[in-house]
Amino acid sequence: MQISTKYAESNVNIGETSCIPVMPTRIVPDMQDDVCESLLNRPRSLSPKYFYDERGSELFDQICSTPEYYPTRTENTLLTEYAVEIIDKTRPEQILELGSGYSVKTRRLFDACQHISHSCTYAPFDVCEEALVESAQKLSKEYQWLDLKPLLGDYHGGLGNLPATQGSHLYLFLGSTIGNFEQHEALAFINELYDVMREGDHFLIGIDRVKKNDVLHAAYNDAQGITAEFNLNVLHVLNRELNANFDINAFTHSATFNTEKERIEMRLTSIRKQEVKINDLEKTIHFDKDESILTEISQKYTYSGIEEMLTDAGFSITDHYEDDNQYFSLVLASK
Ligand code: AVJ
Repeated sequence: MQISTKYAESNVNIGETSCIPVMPTRIVPDMQDDVCESLLNRPRSLSPKYFYDERGSELFDQICSTPEYYPTRTENTLLTEYAVEIIDKTRPEQILELGSGYSVKTRRLFDACQHISHSCTYAPFDVCEEALVESAQKLSKEYQWLDLKPLLGDYHGGLGNLPATQGSHLYLFLGSTIGNFEQHEALAFINELYDVMREGDHFLIGIDRVKKNDVLHAAYNDAQGITAEFNLNVLHVLNRELNANFDINAFTHSATFNTEKERIEMRLTSIRKQEVKINDLEKTIHFDKDESILTEISQKYTYSGIEEMLTDAGFSITDHYEDDNQYFSLVLASK
């Protein structure tokens, strides 16, 4: 495919972006079931997916531009530097991105396509319809040659139900989102992706590396307190969605590096003994003073850990890109 012919055919339908729904292949628990299971039993936890309501997504964007939060910036720099090489090596007919959000960093790959006159389809896959529609509209103006096929659904549950397509694919999983999985879940997910891929397809994954405790600690405890607000926002989500009565001021944010498990653990800790009502579940939670809820894990990987995970799933590593500090890895693998 050449850009020149695609430009001639391009037909931008602003306001008419439609997403293709992708159904999960297994039952994805709703918030009520999920919270019942994780929050009402000890040790208490919550799935990080509930962070991302409108306010939460806004706060996450703000985290990404704090001076302490290096992952987004580092990954973007790596993409800027190596996108042309990646596109030239893979020449994908379709770029499919798992958890695409607002497709900000993905633009580095589209810039590269433009640079070497390679045109392709872009299938952003996300649960947030707003983000999909808004970015599709922007992208269709900025990259008129890009053929957009937004996929709406849970990318974890929906991997086995992707619409049938032809030609070579480049699958993207950026931002070290893989870090939210326990390591065995991460391997299972990558295995599942490997199974849906065809021979000759590529996989580009961004993964945060193990590094000095102080750098990690600062990244999850920014001086402006945005990460703390992001963490506490999940209680607003529960208050709204489950008709709960969390007193946001009675919990504090913490994020510590678990050196044994090599992961950041983010928690909300009750400052006093208190009772919280979850009206929609007809339950009351009794918190002891200093009792906490594990709200997120952010697993960090060594390069050999990354290598092991990808090769265990069956992938061959094509390239490994990292910054001079070795803070972040961008790995290109193939089936
Ligand atoms: C989006 C899961 C990659 O773990 O670094 C940032 C989320 N949490 N600050 C991460 C997050 C607190 C982020 N991921």
